[in-house]
Amino acid sequence: MEKQLHRLFVLSNVFVFVASLVSTTESQSNVSGVGDPGMQRDSLRVAFEAWNFCNEVGQQAPHMGSPRAAQCFDLSEGSLIHKVTENDNKLGVGDSLPGLKPEYINNTDLYAVQKELYLGSLCEVEDTPRPWQFWMIMLKNGNYDTRSGLCPKDGQKVPPFSPGRFPCFGTGCMNQPILCHQWTKLKGGVMRGGFNGTYDLDYGCDAVDSNVSFYEVVWEKKVNVGSWLFKHKLKTSNKYPWLMLYLRADATSGFSGGYHYNTRGMLKTLLESPNFKVKLTLDIKKGGGSKSQFYLLDMGSCWKNNGAPCDGDVLTDVTRYSEMIINPETPAWCSPTGLGNCPPFHITPDDKKIFRNDTANFPYSAYHYYCAPGNAQHLEQPVSTCDPYSNPQAQEIVQLLPHPIWGEYGYPTKKGDGWVGDARTWELDVGGLSSRLYFYQDPGTTPAKRIWTSIDTGTEIFVSDKDEVAEWTLSDYDVILTHPRNSLVTQVERK
Ligand SMILES: *[C@@H]1O[C@H](CO)[C@@H](O)[C@H](O)[C@H]1NC(C)=O
Ligand SMILES: *[C@@H]1O[C@H](CO)[C@@H](O)[C@H](O)[C@H]1NC(C)=O
Ligand SMILES: *[C@@H]1O[C@H](CO)[C@@H](O)[C@H](O)[C@H]1NC(C)=O
Ligand SMILES: *[C@@H]1O[C@H](CO)[C@@H](O)[C@H](O)[C@H]1NC(C)=O
Ligand SMILES: *[C@@H]1O[C@H](CO)[C@@H](O)[C@H](O)[C@H]1NC(C)=O
Repeated sequence: MEKQLHRLFVLSNVFVFVASLVSTTESQSNVSGVGDPGMQRDSLRVAFEAWNFCNEVGQQAPHMGSPRAAQCFDLSEGSLIHKVTENDNKLGVGDSLPGLKPEYINNTDLYAVQKELYLGSLCEVEDTPRPWQFWMIMLKNGNYDTRSGLCPKDGQKVPPFSPGRFPCFGTGCMNQPILCHQWTKLKGGVMRGGFNGTYDLDYGCDAVDSNVSFYEVVWEKKVNVGSWLFKHKLKTSNKYPWLMLYLRADATSGFSGGYHYNTRGMLKTLLESPNFKVKLTLDIKKGGGSKSQFYLLDMGSCWKNNGAPCDGDVLTDVTRYSEMIINPETPAWCSPTGLGNCPPFHITPDDKKIFRNDTANFPYSAYHYYCAPGNAQHLEQPVSTCDPYSNPQAQEIVQLLPHPIWGEYGYPTKKGDGWVGDARTWELDVGGLSSRLYFYQDPGTTPAKRIWTSIDTGTEIFVSDKDEVAEWTLSDYDVILTHPRNSLVTQVERK
């Protein structure tokens, strides 16, 4: 064990060394990695996806079709030309789709994947080096009915088990939401549209009750001026205490973070650490209570424990996440007495490695929580493994909190930075930071290429004990490739 760990450390040193070599090479001109740099394009592309506890559909909500939808339009000579119709958005199991394999037509999970590809084909914009489709708004219901047997455990099918560990009000608690469109319209030089809804199926599009769950995203832009403003709202309720709402820039092909099927998105180039930055403006109006893990930046990817890229085999694929949580009420579970909630080591911007047992130097309060993949074979003890049910495969999560140690990357350095009343435009060296985070790998294996397939911002209200409301506006979203030539080479190699 000791020896294997030593080899792992040597390997990750090599990785960091390579990373710093790249970051000191001369800066070239900057290129955006998203199809709509800074959300400035008048002709908008936006889609919606809703996930159940294990990132699938399970059962469609009545009359809503498959929980994938889009609004995509071009602004042409003063009018909006919509590319997606109400009928497209209502498509659900049983309805034919171009190119749909017969075995998918009655399968709610597989149908949604095909519907996303179909909506992508309607929204696609030609571009270099490749076309892109839409910003993705993702909504997730954290209820899990353990008696349903719906969610695999670290990718393995398991039988139903007794409830208790997860929120669920009873049969049907994993339902998909009601989705209501406000079709984008142009009025007085301003374009405005959105969608909203609730998880409470006995409520319609216009019935809002104080104790009912609620979500809404409204987008608004002055023609020819600045960025789209994406105004979000999310409300939990007694029946739905754990909800997530994010705006994502996802890969246009391959498995985007948390998902094991081909998806569509906004990232027209692969993002590889350390060669990219993320720019965004965030104005949080309401935080969503003490359980709201607001992610200034959440990134997702997938690689195997041996460093190989994911291939859709859920038994060996591992979703990797890293998140910067900016709610000042979120505590650091990582501490000198809670080493199992810390990554085994921290790497400083000048590439020094600090072990978590080095109590004088390890930045404990920079980490909310670290959890390791449940299928890892060589974990250093003590360790906590991630929830095995909430992704289609095993996952690993590194959750960060504002701390001076992140300042070099443009990240928040103290509690309250960027929180309610402190709207800011951030330029985050996400690539640099993510090249130095600890992620588990089997001893003696080649370090994974850290290619990120989803970059997003939003909140996860994690089992609130009372109804909570979060409200925020996001704009100016951009991903800047700091060494575009490298990224393009990488992409060609990986084709
Ligand atoms: C590229 O972007 C970086 C980070 O945003 C910035 O510091 C640099 O000045 C930019 N370079 C050019 C040539 O625009
Ligand atoms: C799908 O379900 C419909 C209605 O139950 C049925 O008629 C049809 O044969 C099914 N198709 C497939 C391919 O299973
Ligand atoms: C959604 O927005 C519309 C238009 O603003 C509003 O009339 C409706 O009440 C909202 N629906 C819900 C469920 O809040
Ligand atoms: C909302 O609260 C009222 C009063 O407490 C109750 O009658 C009603 O059933 C509740 N609705 C839901 C959906 O929980
Ligand atoms: C601290 O942890 C490292 C890595 O596990 C180990 O090599 C070292 O012996 C530990 N130091 C102490 C003082 O326990």
